Amino acid sequence: MIQVAVMGYGTVGSGVVEVIEKNKEEINKKSGEEINIKYILDLRDFPGDPFEDKIVHDVEKILNDPEIKIICETMGGLKPAYDFTKRALLSGKSVCTSNKELVAAHGPELINIAHDNKCNYLFEASVGGGIPIIRPLNYSLTAEKIDAITGILNGTTNYILSKMEKEGADFEDVLKEAQEKGYAERNPEADVEGYDACRKIAILSSLMCGKNVKYEDIYTEGITKITATDFVYAHACGRTIKLLAQSKEVDGRFYAMVAPCMISTSNPLYMVNDVFNAVCVHGNMLGDSMYYGRGAGKLPTASAVVSDVVDCARHIGKVIMCFWDSEDVALTGIDEASRRFFVRVPLEQESKALQVFESVSVIEANVPGEFGFITDVMTEKEFNRKAEEVGIISRIRIE
Ligand code: HSE
Repeated sequence: MIQVAVMGYGTVGSGVVEVIEKNKEEINKKSGEEINIKYILDLRDFPGDPFEDKIVHDVEKILNDPEIKIICETMGGLKPAYDFTKRALLSGKSVCTSNKELVAAHGPELINIAHDNKCNYLFEASVGGGIPIIRPLNYSLTAEKIDAITGILNGTTNYILSKMEKEGADFEDVLKEAQEKGYAERNPEADVEGYDACRKIAILSSLMCGKNVKYEDIYTEGITKITATDFVYAHACGRTIKLLAQSKEVDGRFYAMVAPCMISTSNPLYMVNDVFNAVCVHGNMLGDSMYYGRGAGKLPTASAVVSDVVDCARHIGKVIMCFWDSEDVALTGIDEASRRFFVRVPLEQESKALQVFESVSVIEANVPGEFGFITDVMTEKEFNRKAEEVGIISRIRIE
């Protein structure tokens, strides 16, 4: 029997307990041994809960129990999760986590500590919820040189953008409704400003490079400035708007960015709607592959945590490979990235815009009082200079 502890009995933690209980037979068979939850750590009491007797309030009980071999860290945040995880790994206990903040901030350090102590730090649930993406990158695609990863990695913002598109509604109205229905957090900043997607693409980019991509270095722009009018233009040119998290290597230079982008119907991410997530991975032999599913939610995320528990159970005393070196990657600045841009300008600036941007594709969207177009490919630096000269209303990157 393998004894497991769950740290944090919130949405994901209670999901982990539920998955282990409901799929007991499958999980035990695949683990090669019975998985038993011995402790659940939480500050709160849960009177009447079927697992009430497993609740403990003192982490020392878990960390000092030599029977505990695997810990599910579903607390979230850096404190005290970082300290608890580090101590668990130092004592040879494997940790399976859904905590993207902690993985993005301390991933290589925690992986190294785990490997030095013949245990594992696994984080399948930290990106894309229930979608298998970490394991494919670590195992299935090892014959590839991966040169690009593009994903819709945040369910809340994808839900908001999908609803804005369908209903022609503005951001603030959809956000309010999403909050009322419990789809968006009361404090939605991490989602709508792109910070959550930034942590997730930092993790995927690090696995792509095999080195550390610091999330602080990734240019990040959220969806708060996207309007219903932007979708009118998007429709008029056969596109939609998605919050994309991207990472690519071109001629030895690494680029990473989180930003709303206009994508066309031919892009496989076009049909990823509502709370769904998807990740497109480009390898030099395989070409494109895509991973799609529920990127958030109790049971999908818990399922990914439990898949890591099974992996750990099958590798007690052995190290599971993960190529994420602590050496930092120098990302190329956003100014040097090249692409096309969708631009809106006041109608009176039309001739100036045509003169400054020279060759453009005009979008016939019949929006009163303004003129919308798509530029040729240019660097962000060049675009910003031209945009300032013209005096634009707004711009969205084209992918
Ligand atoms: N807030 C995140 C999302 C939860 O909306 O995708 C999953 O990480």
